[in-house]
Amino acid sequence: MSAERTRSFFDEMAKTYDDDLRALGWNPVSVVREWPFAVAPGERVLDAGCGTGALLQHLAGAARRLSGFDLSEGMVARARARRSLRDADLRVHDAGQPWPFPDGSFDVVFAFGMLEFVEQLDRAFDELGRVLAPHGRALVSVEDIVDWEGEQRPGMELRYGRFPLWRRTLEDVDVRLPPGLDIVTARRQPAYVVLELGFTTAYHVIELVRRPIGSG
Ligand SMILES: C[S@@+](CC[C@H](N)C(=O)[O-])C[C@H]1O[C@@H](n2cnc3c(N)ncnc32)[C@H](O)[C@@H]1O
Repeated sequence: MSAERTRSFFDEMAKTYDDDLRALGWNPVSVVREWPFAVAPGERVLDAGCGTGALLQHLAGAARRLSGFDLSEGMVARARARRSLRDADLRVHDAGQPWPFPDGSFDVVFAFGMLEFVEQLDRAFDELGRVLAPHGRALVSVEDIVDWEGEQRPGMELRYGRFPLWRRTLEDVDVRLPPGLDIVTARRQPAYVVLELGFTTAYHVIELVRRPIGSG
């Protein structure tokens, strides 16, 4: 799927996205809550593919400096409308293009449910590594093409069109991480239940760390 089609798909989805997630009883905050991954006061945080800004809103306060970007203008408009994010830096941007931030700008980068839509996956990981400061951490989640019980998802094409990039394991996707960006932990876990189609989605949640240059 081209970035243009992805953008218009999510522009449409933005209109009901928060209500849809509420109906599913799930949102990105639940991933962070369940993961031993604290964001300290004062840390610089980027949410890549921030959607309507639910995760950034959860992190707002504690003098954190918050940035987010998303391909969809509709999603970014919703994020900008949140009062708690009035001081956040929110942009429309494609993760498959160079990220508009200097090297080492962030202590923490999140990318939830976004990378599975990016054609230039290597570029996105290069940029994620580049904008992380030494010792910076990232937490990303990507939805599996196979559901939690291991079945091919019947609703995949119904819901999302065909996204060929994500499979069962990191090896299947052939992710090439840039030097200095290492996986700390990767875990496959259940996400939300799609009642009408009778399956539970599965996510890969992957924690990464930016090694300081020259630390082997
Ligand atoms: C399933 S939503 C997840 C949104 C949010 N991270 C969350 O967890 O609720 C996927 C988001 O990724 C964004 N997205 C898809 N492709 C993108 C790209 N190439 N660059 C930036 N954002 C992208 C979509 O616009 C959408 O907001």
